Parts: sequence; structure tokens; C-alpha cells
Amino acid sequence: MAARRLSSLLSLSYSSSSAAAATSLCSLGRLSRLQRGINSFSTSAAIDEPIKPSIQIDHTQLLINGKFVNSASGKTFPTYDPRTGEEIAHVAEGDAEDIDRAVAAARKAFDEGPWPKMTAYERSRIMLRFADLLEKHTEEVATLETWDNGKPYEQAANIEIPKVVRMFRYYAGWADKIHGLTMPADREYHVQTLHEPYGVTGLIIPWNFPLLLYSWKVGPALACGNTVVLKTSEQTPLSALYVSKLFHEAGLPPGVLNVISGFGPTAGAALCSHMNVDKLSFTGSSATGKVVLGMASSSNLKPVTLELGGKSPFIVCKDADVDKAVDLAHFALFFNQGQCCCAGSRTFVHESVYDEFVEKAKARALKRAVGDPFKKGTEQGPQIDNAQFQKILKYIRSGIEGGATLETGGEQLGSTGYYIKPTVFSNVKDDMLIATDEIFGPVQSILKFKDLDEVIQRANATSYGLAAGVFTQSLETANTLTRALRVGTVWINCYDIFDAAIPFGGFKMSGHGREKGIYGLSSYLQIKAVVSPLKNPAWL
Ligand code: NAI
Ligand code: MG
Repeated sequence: MAARRLSSLLSLSYSSSSAAAATSLCSLGRLSRLQRGINSFSTSAAIDEPIKPSIQIDHTQLLINGKFVNSASGKTFPTYDPRTGEEIAHVAEGDAEDIDRAVAAARKAFDEGPWPKMTAYERSRIMLRFADLLEKHTEEVATLETWDNGKPYEQAANIEIPKVVRMFRYYAGWADKIHGLTMPADREYHVQTLHEPYGVTGLIIPWNFPLLLYSWKVGPALACGNTVVLKTSEQTPLSALYVSKLFHEAGLPPGVLNVISGFGPTAGAALCSHMNVDKLSFTGSSATGKVVLGMASSSNLKPVTLELGGKSPFIVCKDADVDKAVDLAHFALFFNQGQCCCAGSRTFVHESVYDEFVEKAKARALKRAVGDPFKKGTEQGPQIDNAQFQKILKYIRSGIEGGATLETGGEQLGSTGYYIKPTVFSNVKDDMLIATDEIFGPVQSILKFKDLDEVIQRANATSYGLAAGVFTQSLETANTLTRALRVGTVWINCYDIFDAAIPFGGFKMSGHGREKGIYGLSSYLQIKAVVSPLKNPAWL
């Protein structure tokens, strides 16, 4: 792709000091400052003619054994621009035969090398070179991500892609620090453990954070010496193909990382059921997670890491600074068009500050800048596709019909594409669908509570257990809630902090296992115990 500067292509200029802003975007101080800067836009602004990203899309085939190839069937499918619903490109449609070819390539690259036979230092250096290349191509990659997904370009370029780069550097750093232990035995034996790669890993990612989730899975899988067959989401196939090409330019040997575009029930299912895949990692809905687990168990019992849905509570206690709580609760729910597995989608507010909170939450939602994601200052773009758009509107209707108070929003913005006005409901009851189901959209449900025991019980009364936000000035309250909440992550006076070293995963039906950090490595490693007799040992 021509290395033309996108800012000029888009006739826009973006802040270049992205990384620093990105790492701390989520911390409250910076968040407020950033939000003040972008609040000059409002939802009442019309959706203009879409800004045309004038980059070429060069990679639409499947990536198997280091080469871009057509699907065995020759079939393709369109990927759409959520701003208009129009086609962006046609992409090769992978199915069982293509998964077979990709698994065979990954198997060969694992069994015969070179990947697991390379020194860990060499693997690490390839990953670092890839991170450098990716960083250099941030603008192109962020443009693809925005075009295919609808997320604001500034967020993609300043937050997500830097986090992807960081994740690969983090796991490159681990590659040569993975090793087993030597342990004492009760008799005269030498005992040690080897931490070995599984072999061929099957990775399935969704559309809400295509490249971020690519990095959470591909990073540790490769650092541990596994080879990969990645199935991208049918809604967002473009960015993974582009960056995987860069990975090969960085020196990745053929067959180590294979990328298949295609649909869940065909390509996805073939990967989950494959007898020659040794390990699966899946991110998506809990419903599909169950199906994935079933296919893994009925084929070769391959182990599965599952990163699934959520209905995370965000708890605003009576001592909270209401203005700050409103800002953070807004961010916790509306970030990424509300399409976050860990969205703070049940905003529990103490009765003593409830009315003030609702008033201010409504005012904040009204100021949210919704519009073309390529436009500078846009906070919220369109939803991913028509199905999600319709699903969200259906939940909004159910909220209204169920008796919740619609404070603002509740409908499409404009008439083209999948934009939804930031929506706030108050007087939400625990049994309403907007309080029980993962909406995956810009819909904030505000519930009232009286005391801590009650809010703990209600926050935990869900089959999900991904994350929770706690907003309080009291250390005691924070500690009480932290231990009582049955979730994989508790953010205290902050939200969506996703550093590479912080583990992420769910309790209950939000998933199995952890990704990121040192914990994320263990799901890509087998532990082998090695025992041998000792003759007249000097010590035991
Ligand atoms: P999904 O869970 O069906 O799709 C996620 C990935 O799984 C995609 O790559 C898809 O192709 C694949 N997949 C689907 N069916 C499969 C199968 N039978 N075997 C193997 N792979 C399969 O999610 P979808 O349909 O895109 O969105 C529906 C809802 O799921 C959303 O409204 C949201 O509530 C939730 N969701 C949650 C995500 C999260 O990050 N936890 C991400 C995406 C969706
Ligand atoms: Mg798309």
C-alpha cells in the first residue's frame, strides 16, 4: 500500500502525541480533559456526507502458508461500511477445506519447525520487528479498522493500535523468559517441569476490537512457540489480513500464522471441530461460546479459553463525587459505541445522589459527539451492522414498554447507516431486559440502590461475571465491594484500563481462563513433568 499520509488523504490532521494520551485516556483526570475538548460536538449535529478514506484495500484473500490465496470454493463475501451499509470489498470466504489447508500448514510449521525449533530469542526479535512495522503503519491500519468497524479513527489510531503494538512487545519480552521449575521429590528422583507449546492453536475473534483481540491471542500463542490458524469475524476481516502480511515482512516463517476470513457456522465450526487443532481460544457471545465448547469436546477434547459476554455493574456509592462518577460511568458504557464485552451496562447509583446523577448523565449523553468516525472529535460512530442496530433498537423499545424512563436518545441518528443516539434510561428495574441482557449498544440503564448489601446481591444476580466498576472515596467500601463481586476485573475509580500485564477474563458465563499478562501465557502452554532416578545424590 502506498505510504501516503492519511491525514492528508482524509484532509484532517490528527494529534501525533497519541501514545501518551492513549495509555492514560482511561484515567479520570485525562478523561475529563479529553472529553472537555471534544464536547463541542453534539448529537444534534447532522451526519454529513461520509468522508472517503482513499486507501487501497490490497489484501482480501486467505493467508495460508505465507501466501494470499483464493478460497477452495472460489467464493467471496462482502464486508460493509457501517456508516452507509455499502460494500467496501469482497473477501475470500473460507470454509472447511480452507481450514484443513491452514491447519495442515500450521501443523507442518509446528512439527517440522521452524517456529518451535527457533530459539526463543529469535522468535522474540521477529515479534519486536513486527511491532515496529505495525507502529509505522498505524495510520493505514487504523483507517482499515475504522472503515470496516465504524469506530472513531482517533480512538483506533491513538488508543487501540498503540495497545496492539504494546501487546506484541510485551509478549515478545516473555518469549525467552518461559521456563519450567525443578522441584524436590520424596525419594531419590530428579524432578523438573517443561513448559511446552501446545502445537496448533485455533483462534476466533469478534468484530468489536478486531486487532486488539488479535494481539491478545496471537501475541501469547506465538511467544510460547505455537503456530496459529486465526478465524476473523465476518464483519471485520480486513485489518488482520493487512497486519499479518506485515508480520511476514518482519520475518515470520510461512505456516506459523494463517488467517481465514469466513463465517462462524462454516469456517469457525470447522476450526473448533478439527482433530488436528490442539487448543482453542474464542472471544464472542456466551451463546456461541457454548457451541464452541461443545465442538471442542465432541471432537478431540481440545482445551478452550473463552472470553464471553457481560452485564457489568458500575456502582456509584453515596460518597462519590457525582460529576466525576457521571463522566466515568458514561465512558464505561458508551466507549466503542457501547460494543464492549465489559461495558458498565448496569449503572447502580445510591439513592442519595440518584436524581442529580440521572440529570447529569442525561446532559453528558446529549453532548456526546456522534458522527462520521473519520471526523476529528467524533466520540461515537455507527453500530457495526444492521442486525446489531435492529437488536439495540428492539431493546430500547422493550425498555420503554417495560416502564423505564427514557431520559434521552432512543432512536436512530440521521437516516443513513447504523447511528444510534446515545440513550439513557432511568428508573430501571432489575428484571427488565435492558438490565439483564447484553445490549452491546449505546444504552445506559440507571438503577437505584439503598445500601451495600443490597447492591452486592443485585450486582451478582446475573449469569455473567466479567467486570465491575466501583466509584467511592472510601477504602473500606471499595474493599468490601471488591471481594464480594463475582467478576474477573474490578476497576476502582477508573474503568477499562487494559494494560498488557493486567489479566482479563470472566467468572460464571463470562468465560474460562484469562488473557493478557503472565496469566495469559499459561493457556498456551502444556506442563510436562519429567522424573528420573538419582544415584547417590549429593543432596535432595
Ligand atoms: P458471535 O459470538 O456469534 O461471533 C463471534 C465470533 O464467533 C465470530 O468470529 C463468528 O464468526 C464466530 N462464530 C459464530 N458462530 C460460530 C460457530 N458456530 N462456531 C465457531 N465460531 C463461530 O457474535 P455476533 O453474532 O457477532 O454478535 C452477537 C452478540 O454477541 C452481540 O450482540 C454481543 O452481545 C455479543 N458479542 C460479544 C462479544 C464480546 O466481546 N464478548 C464480541 C462480539 C459479540
Ligand atoms: Mg465491515
